[in-house]
Amino acid sequence: LSRANAGGTGGNHLHHHGAQRPPLARTPGVGPFSVRMPVPQELTPLISSSKLDVYQLTMRPANVEILPGVSTRALTYNGAFVGPTIRARSGRRTIVTFGNRLGEAANVHLHGGKVPASSDGYPMDVIHPGLARMYDYPNDQPGATLWYHDHSHHTEAEHVYRGLHGFYLLQSDDEQRLGLPSGQYDVPIMLRDALFDDSGALVFDPTDPFNRPTLLANGRPQPYFPVAARKYRLRLLNGSTHRVFELDLGGVEMTQIASDGGLLPEPVTTTNLTISSGERVEVVVDFSAHPVGSQLVLNDVSGPVLRFDVVQKAVDRSSVPDRLRALPPVPQATNTRQMTLSLDPVNIQALINGRPFDHTRVDAQIRRGTTEIWRITNSDTDVGGSGFGLPHNFHMHLVQFRVLDRDGRPPLPGESGLKDTVLIQPGESVRVQATFGDYLGRYLYHCHMLEHSALGMMGQFEIVR
Ligand code: C2O
Ligand code: CU
Repeated sequence: LSRANAGGTGGNHLHHHGAQRPPLARTPGVGPFSVRMPVPQELTPLISSSKLDVYQLTMRPANVEILPGVSTRALTYNGAFVGPTIRARSGRRTIVTFGNRLGEAANVHLHGGKVPASSDGYPMDVIHPGLARMYDYPNDQPGATLWYHDHSHHTEAEHVYRGLHGFYLLQSDDEQRLGLPSGQYDVPIMLRDALFDDSGALVFDPTDPFNRPTLLANGRPQPYFPVAARKYRLRLLNGSTHRVFELDLGGVEMTQIASDGGLLPEPVTTTNLTISSGERVEVVVDFSAHPVGSQLVLNDVSGPVLRFDVVQKAVDRSSVPDRLRALPPVPQATNTRQMTLSLDPVNIQALINGRPFDHTRVDAQIRRGTTEIWRITNSDTDVGGSGFGLPHNFHMHLVQFRVLDRDGRPPLPGESGLKDTVLIQPGESVRVQATFGDYLGRYLYHCHMLEHSALGMMGQFEIVR
């Protein structure tokens, strides 16, 4: 995506009029709740030994059914618009060979994964068409809902938008002992938005990311999902490249149990969830309080996303303990940094500390094992003199951080655990703390509104000895 492409419609586009009020969610062709939400298929390993699982996936274009009865060209892993789910276990290695039959360069990043730099999907480190590459994931971290997606330079936003996204569910034994809802009652749900033209083709317009009125859950528009009258664990991922979801279940309480990096220290009860691009929020919803025949709608501010239909009774031996886990201790920080995020609508660039990403420049050199506090400021309160502010978020590779405060106030209860992506409202400053451990090499940090990272809102740190 060159500057010229990015400015296709010219001028001050990124802070579009839609910034304040997203267009109403709609399902083209049919009304909402006309299709059933699928659960992405789990990938079977090619080889499983006592220590590792080996998987193979092929990136390729495919015709998929997103809108009911309509065939849409997408970029996929193994032909699935939400890629196959990879299951992994803490302490047990996963190797995935990704073949590239897209006809263009691409790569793969395991979002939230602590992986060696050579397997992190660095933007310049791509798989050329016709070739394949092995990614090595040690899974040396607690259980968490991770996901994999493209990270190729300047094309990450379009590739992810067109379908290069899938779940990677990391399980740990400790977590399994808690007795949370599991098996078919543990449901990964990727939420995202899209714009379709009249023929049902996906339209990617990076200059107008607010105009994506179709909301998808696991790749289908405003679907329904039959549930039993019992507790479910819902692993919500915002797989949009830009949208911030603001969700509620019609006032029904949800119990948040996990964030990006896995379980919270203790459950948090809430009726509203804000999830920005790339973030994960896991909730337990107890449908047993609702008689068979009830329907509960998960709503975004722009409209309904997904309807849960309570269709049968069920026994439920699951529980949500009062204490979920002890978080790792927070070591004393020995360094602080400031990161300021801003758009430059005149030059159609997106910047951190006044500069767009440059892969030849190391923005932060960090000695291995160091603990640092980063203060991240969103300075876009009035983009290009438009009077509109624009939210950003901030994602760091390699680490799971702790959110220390927002403008000096304590973080929200749902962000008291381990995080790798955090939403930052216009004018807000968020302080996070991370320990940069284990691997050497170059890793990214960036706004996860991928239209922004594609325009340069990205930097890199290098871990050195
Ligand atoms: Cu989900 Cu650097 O990405
Ligand atoms: Cu941004």
